[in-house]
Amino acid sequence: MSSQENTSENSPHILVLGMGGTIAGLASRPEDKPLEYVAGQVEVGSLLAHIQSAVPEGIQLVSRQLANINSCNLTEALLTQLGEAVREALANALVTGVVLTHGTDTIEETGVFLQLTCGKYAENLGKRVILTGAMLPANAPKADGPSNLLDAIRWASTPIDDCPGGIYAVMDGRGCMAMDLSKRHGSALNAPIQASPSSSVGLINPSWLSGVKAVQALWTEDWPIPKEGEWPWVEILTSHAGARPETITHWLNSKVKGLVLAGTGMGSLHDAWRESLVAAVKHGIALVRTSRTGAGEAQANLPEKDIPGCLASGSLSAPRARIALQLALNAEKQAQTAGKSLTWQDFFARIAVLPVIR
Ligand code: SIN
Repeated sequence: MSSQENTSENSPHILVLGMGGTIAGLASRPEDKPLEYVAGQVEVGSLLAHIQSAVPEGIQLVSRQLANINSCNLTEALLTQLGEAVREALANALVTGVVLTHGTDTIEETGVFLQLTCGKYAENLGKRVILTGAMLPANAPKADGPSNLLDAIRWASTPIDDCPGGIYAVMDGRGCMAMDLSKRHGSALNAPIQASPSSSVGLINPSWLSGVKAVQALWTEDWPIPKEGEWPWVEILTSHAGARPETITHWLNSKVKGLVLAGTGMGSLHDAWRESLVAAVKHGIALVRTSRTGAGEAQANLPEKDIPGCLASGSLSAPRARIALQLALNAEKQAQTAGKSLTWQDFFARIAVLPVIR
């Protein structure tokens, strides 16, 4: 991991972690072809230098480059490094808040990862971690990165009574819990947040805030961060017209520990999969059912849909359910090593009970 620190780190500051993405991207012909760009080109320190004159007086910023990638290449090892960096930052009394610049393609995975591993810690310490990104590269004439970054810095540093500590995200003037991010559009400026319950970052909406507090009240304990190289292997499979059992049986003799099944509608799975899914459960493969629609909920206890042993993902999209299942499987392993008989289902069920913010 490359790292770059500036000099205000001995006084109270906001730590800005850089992971890359379009916010750090450059187009070769920005005036007429802004979408022909390469992500992850500009260092986070330069992104901050660009907006320095607009940063409210008194806010000290320290930057650290964790990676500079197109987030389609996000790895589990990098998530481990990021989770540890966020925990370390939260533990540092001089860090008053954290901002994370990230590619929007997989920001939803990072959002749920940080909520499940650092959310309670951030809340207890009264510190905000704000994820942000951009849909246009840094040198595009109408680049959205600078305003998103400024919003994130302002939100990370506003007094705590406005909004509790926790893991949030901001895009296009709106903020949401980072675990609610879900990119549902290829190019809209608000793509990762347009379908998420959110609030204007300028004026926090009280009903959104009470939803956040209801989620936080039920999220009582963070889960361990898997060590690099110890993330359980989990794949996402999509049910569709003409589905074949081979899509499932292919994995039975592999080292896959879990499958996230992106079903049709509310999470229905093709009958052609049923027998092989029952076999997968017998093989000890963890199954979670979600919806390929990308919206709404996959509810539990629908007899027509449920395969014994397969849990419903609630409102988690397939990419978020995959991270949650990996963390639940890892938490089960850690619990069993510590002599506790908790299963991945016990852990995963804690997510299913979290209320959906309306
Ligand atoms: C990326 O995810 O790194 C590229 C796309 C984006 O940031 O919008």
